[in-house]
Parts: sequence; C-alpha cells; structure tokens
Amino acid sequence: LIPSYVKVVEVGPRDGLQNESMTVPTSVKVELIHQLVAAGLPVVEATSFVSPKWVPQLADAHDVLAAIENLGSTQFPVLTPNLKGFEAAMAAGAKEIAVFTAASESFAKANINCTIEESLARYRQVCDAAKEQNIPIRGYVSCVVGCPIEGPISADAVANVAQDLVEMGCYEVSLGDTIGVGTPGTVAPMLKVVMDVVPVERLAVHFHDTYGQALVNILVALQMGISVVDSSVAGLGGCPYAKGASGNVATEDVVYLLNGLGIKSNVDLSKLLAAGTFICGYLGRTSGSKAALALSKL
Ligand code: HMG
Ligand code: MG
Repeated sequence: LIPSYVKVVEVGPRDGLQNESMTVPTSVKVELIHQLVAAGLPVVEATSFVSPKWVPQLADAHDVLAAIENLGSTQFPVLTPNLKGFEAAMAAGAKEIAVFTAASESFAKANINCTIEESLARYRQVCDAAKEQNIPIRGYVSCVVGCPIEGPISADAVANVAQDLVEMGCYEVSLGDTIGVGTPGTVAPMLKVVMDVVPVERLAVHFHDTYGQALVNILVALQMGISVVDSSVAGLGGCPYAKGASGNVATEDVVYLLNGLGIKSNVDLSKLLAAGTFICGYLGRTSGSKAALALSKL
C-alpha cells in the first residue's frame, strides 16, 4: 500500500516566509525558489495574492512570480483568497492557484475573515474563473485535527469541507494540521473519515511540527496510501494565530525519511540542504531540520 513515489510540495517560500517577522527581500525569495527548483522539487508554492494588510511579508507577490516565470517544469501554485487575488495572480502570470479554508469556524474568521460557508461560496467563484482559463486549483483545509481557538475538530467537518473543495474543482486537497497538535491517534482516524468521501489519490497532508509529531503522522498517512506531502525547507514558518506553533515539517527531514523507506521523490538532498543553508544564513538562524543539522556535522 505504501506508495513508491511521493510528490513533495515545497511550501517554504509561502508558508515559511509569510510567518517570518523579517520581510525577506524579493531577490532573496527568488534565489531561494531557484535553489528549490534546482533540488528537483516538482511543486514550489511561491507566494500568496492575499491582502498586504494581512500578510505584509508577501506583498511582493507580483514581482516574485514575474521573476520565476518559465523556470523549468516546476509548478508554482499561489494562494488566492478571493477573485481579487485570482485576478492579481493571473496578471502576474500564475499558472496554478490554491484556495484555502478551514474545518474550524473560528480559524476561518481569524484567517480569512469569513465563515466557512462564505469562503466556499467565494471559492466557487474563484474555481469557476480558474476553470475557464484551464488553471489547476489546489485546495487546503486548515485545522484538520485541532484549532488554536476551538480545540479538537471533528473529522466529519474536515471531510465535508474537503468534499466541497473537490466538487468545486480542486484536483488535490491538502489537509493541514495548522498548529501541529495531531498524533497518529487523531490523524489516522481523521484520514479514514476523509478517505471515505475523497479518493486517496486526491489527498495531500500538510503537517506543522509543533509537537514533533509531523514525521510520524506522515508515515501513517503514507501507510494509508497518501502520496503527496507538503513541507518547508529548513522547517521555516509558524502560525500567527497559534502562539508557539512551529513551522511546517522540514523538507530535508521528509526527504531523508522517504530515502530511508526507498520511496522515490526525485529530490536531491544535498542541493536541498544548500537551499536550507542559504535561507537560514539570510535569516540568521539555525535550521529547523534535524537532518540538516546532523548532515552539516559530517
Ligand atoms: P477582508 O479585510 O475581510 O477583505 O480580508 P475585504 O474584501 O474587506 O478587503 C479589505 C482590503 O483588502 C481592501 O483594501 C481590499 O481591496 C484588499 P482597502 O480598500 O482596505 O485598501 N484585498 C486584497 N488585496 C490584495 N489581494 C487580495 C485582496 N483581497 C482584498 N486578494 C482577506 C479578507 C481574505 C482578503 C484577508 O483576510 C486575507 O488576505 N487573508 C489571508 C490570510 C493568509 O494569507 N493567511 C495565511 C495563509 S493560510 C495558511 O497559512 C494555512 C495553510 O498553510 C494550511 C495550514 O497550515 O493549515 C494553507
Ligand atoms: Mg500551513
């Protein structure tokens, strides 16, 4: 059942850098993306076309995207919270978008300032516009096991939102443990409920690593047949609405795990390490990747 190939979706330039207190210059973001592409990542989430008042760190979305146009065969999805964002993404040359909502009402309100139902109505419009232009759409559900405001979240709520996203045209739905509270004890039963309504081929997992459970959760997801894993180089990131929440699971650690399991990802670990070293050097911090720390001592 365990997949022989896993598609690693690198979200560092978006999920990572959106949470850095320091706004990273466009040229550094572009260089990071170049290095991630050189490492062989098939998908690099590049930026977000969201309100610059909400996420000032990504206010240069247009320039980032313009600078990476025609860079190899990598897909560069960008987050679009509404039609305004979709139109801005198209104007900047985006070829793929991602829409994002939550399984928790309180988180939807905090993150996108609307109810879940309102967000789905917005995204139906965005998806219709995208489909008209043959733009692939990825979907996200946040708070799939826990919410920083509401606490535990029911798997049925996750399944309902995931199903709606697929029905409106998302080719893939990424299930986000936004605050990294899940363990296999909560993740596996949630995945089972979601897999009853969304085919496993269309599911991705997106773990933040606050409690150090991301890799074990990924292993469980792989064992259940999921073959798309989101991660962030050097484990960049956090969550502005969850005090102390850490970044996404580090891409280096995911690739090390996949290599150990004999699962292909086509990611070159040494080039990936170089990308991590580059961005950590710029940010003046140590890597959030245990594999990167260990390999840097060899
Ligand atoms: P709002 O304030 O309710 O929106 O924000 P509004 O429609 O009333 O507009 C307010 C202002 O924003 C207006 O400007 C709009 O023009 C502007 P003003 O008239 O005040 O000058 N505006 C925009 N500007 C640029 N691009 C746009 C856009 N839309 C409106 N697309 C809104 C609603 C959704 C826009 C806002 O809440 C927002 O941008 N939220 C995004 C928050 C975000 O990016 N969060 C992080 C990503 S999600 C995540 O990290 C989770 C994930 O990783 C998975 C996981 O871990 O679970 C994906
Ligand atoms: Mg995230």
